[in-house]
Amino acid sequence: MMHFILVCLFCGFYGAFGKGNEQKVRFGVPVLDVNSTQVVLEANKTLELKCRGDRELSWAFPGGLGRDQVKVVNSRCGKTRQHFCSNLRVSRSQAWHTGLYRCRYRHQTQKQQSLYVYVTDSRQPFVEHTDMSPTVLYMKVREPLVIPCRVTNPNITATLVKYYGRPLSQDQRNILWNSRKGFTIQTPNLSYIGLFHCEAVVDGVKHNSRVYFVHRTVSNITEVYLNTSGSVQALKGERLALNCTATAELNTRVNITWDYPGKRNNAGSSFKRLVRHPMHMLFYNILTIPKLRRSDRGVYTCRVTSGEQSKQQKAVVTVYNRPFIRLKPRNGSVVEVQAGQKSYKLSPKLRAFPSPEVVWLKDGRVAAEQCSRYHMDGTSLVIRDVAEEDAGKYTVLVRIQQHALYQNLTLTLLVNVSPEIGEKAVSLQDPGSVPRGSKKLLHCTSHGVPPPHIQWLWHPCPSKGLPAAPRA
Ligand SMILES: *[C@@H]1O[C@H](CO)[C@@H](O)[C@H](O)[C@H]1NC(C)=O
Ligand SMILES: *[C@@H]1O[C@H](CO)[C@@H](O)[C@H](O)[C@H]1NC(C)=O
Ligand SMILES: *[C@@H]1O[C@H](CO)[C@@H](O)[C@H](O)[C@H]1NC(C)=O
Ligand SMILES: *[C@@H]1O[C@H](CO)[C@@H](O)[C@H](O)[C@H]1NC(C)=O
Ligand SMILES: *[C@@H]1O[C@H](CO)[C@@H](O)[C@H](O)[C@H]1NC(C)=O
Ligand SMILES: *[C@@H]1O[C@H](CO)[C@@H](O)[C@H](O)[C@H]1NC(C)=O
Ligand SMILES: *[C@@H]1O[C@H](CO)[C@@H](O)[C@H](O)[C@H]1NC(C)=O
Ligand SMILES: *[C@@H]1O[C@H](CO)[C@@H](O)[C@H](O)[C@H]1NC(C)=O
Ligand SMILES: *[C@@H]1O[C@H](CO)[C@@H](O)[C@H](O)[C@H]1NC(C)=O
Ligand SMILES: *[C@@H]1O[C@H](CO)[C@@H](O)[C@H](O)[C@H]1NC(C)=O
Repeated sequence: MMHFILVCLFCGFYGAFGKGNEQKVRFGVPVLDVNSTQVVLEANKTLELKCRGDRELSWAFPGGLGRDQVKVVNSRCGKTRQHFCSNLRVSRSQAWHTGLYRCRYRHQTQKQQSLYVYVTDSRQPFVEHTDMSPTVLYMKVREPLVIPCRVTNPNITATLVKYYGRPLSQDQRNILWNSRKGFTIQTPNLSYIGLFHCEAVVDGVKHNSRVYFVHRTVSNITEVYLNTSGSVQALKGERLALNCTATAELNTRVNITWDYPGKRNNAGSSFKRLVRHPMHMLFYNILTIPKLRRSDRGVYTCRVTSGEQSKQQKAVVTVYNRPFIRLKPRNGSVVEVQAGQKSYKLSPKLRAFPSPEVVWLKDGRVAAEQCSRYHMDGTSLVIRDVAEEDAGKYTVLVRIQQHALYQNLTLTLLVNVSPEIGEKAVSLQDPGSVPRGSKKLLHCTSHGVPPPHIQWLWHPCPSKGLPAAPRA
């Protein structure tokens, strides 16, 4: 088989520039030693393929072929060992090894050369064995439906059989047969829903393929959600992972795509899964950005589409350069409140990331432990039924321990108390009559914050029957 390679090189296969000068040969794609697009081999025979290229090579082969059944030997080759050669060998080929074999560049797998290999076995005309359990195929109206009953010999032509129906043959228009693909129904209608199998007659013996259960796909996305609220905050260099989940009716197929700031430079990678539940389908797609950069901040959209239907969810991602605490009073560091007010909230302006621990002190002691009327609401301190004794110095301590960040702020609370006259509490007594010219002390005790100033008013005694006219 070696001489095939030489033939290829000398006849200028894939950009061989030098006239027989091997050293100048460049391989746009790897080159296989087989000069055709297909090979037919009998079962139990050895399949051997040789491939040559100017970079490291790797192979892709049919799923029916286990890795342990394939022997691959890589070597350097060429006059000055400047090329890479790879030899694939399957010592006992079997019908289910039928399929496409591809030799490609390990680090540029789209550059490849392929070969279709049929491994003929008159007792197994279908690649997928009859004993395999039925498989489900999803049909979309007006989209081609493929019944993948591939065969092991290019000469075989199968017929398609619907259960309890008459066999369908290729008709060159709507039903096409291809030994490498199976049947393709170009424009299926609802009559293609149900159980199908393929049949082939080899040496006068009829063989059946495995069974295919054709379902109709519907497009009904029930719900789409992200495993985060509308906004995500993270630090530069951290990993971001968003899980977008869609639920849909049974038989629905969906595509989940992401739009995000780093999409153009492939900052993220995604991972998909489908979970079948008895009553619905669940799909999820996880977008991961391993190391966030500032440029990754912005809107992340998960878009779920199924046929014509489309639903989406968004999250806004904020990326901080470093952890921080920003703490300042909202309106000066002295605040005033009226005693008797139902409640008062001490809430300085606080922005921090990651989320900090917050403790309030009153006059140096933990506030919540001092009075049952004090409680925290988020990062604010709420005082219920404000009383005079609530006046004092309130300190909020803000801490992000894992980053050793600390900040504090002290607010002075002044509680204004409306002035009250102590004597009013006791029943006001008539001072009685006092002899003219003698001294009489009248007391007035009053309390209030700030301290009230006292003013005396004198009312002349009302003459009987007449209303009093106050006068200072
Ligand atoms: C091999 O390849 C050459 C050049 O591409 C072509 O002329 C020839 O017909 C091929 N031979 C076979 C057996 O396919
Ligand atoms: C392949 O070899 C096995 C074991 O020797 C044998 O049973 C089988 O019939 C062979 N298959 C074919 C298609 O010759
Ligand atoms: C396919 O059929 C042709 C003609 O009937 C025959 O010559 C050829 O050997 C068959 N090929 C295979 C792989 O059976
Ligand atoms: C489906 O199309 C076939 C022709 O391909 C036609 O004979 C059949 O009546 C159609 N069935 C339905 C349910 O439309
Ligand atoms: C999609 O599903 C919802 C809820 O299951 C249902 O109400 C609605 O009719 C369905 N729409 C379609 C087009 O099937
Ligand atoms: C979302 O899901 C991903 C993937 O499981 C996980 O790594 C991430 O922590 C989740 N985010 C939230 C906010 O739960
Ligand atoms: C993503 O979210 C779905 C639904 O909440 C859950 O079933 C799935 O396990 C999550 N995936 C990961 C990797 O966390
Ligand atoms: C998903 O996207 C692919 C390619 O864009 C498209 O061929 C396919 O029909 C889509 N599937 C659904 C269920 O929308
Ligand atoms: C801010 O403080 C001033 C003076 O102390 C006061 O008049 C004003 O009502 C305060 N504003 C708010 C929103 O508390
Ligand atoms: C508040 O911060 C200052 C420095 O800004 C520090 O000296 C002081 O000890 C802190 N107070 C408390 C109670 O942590």
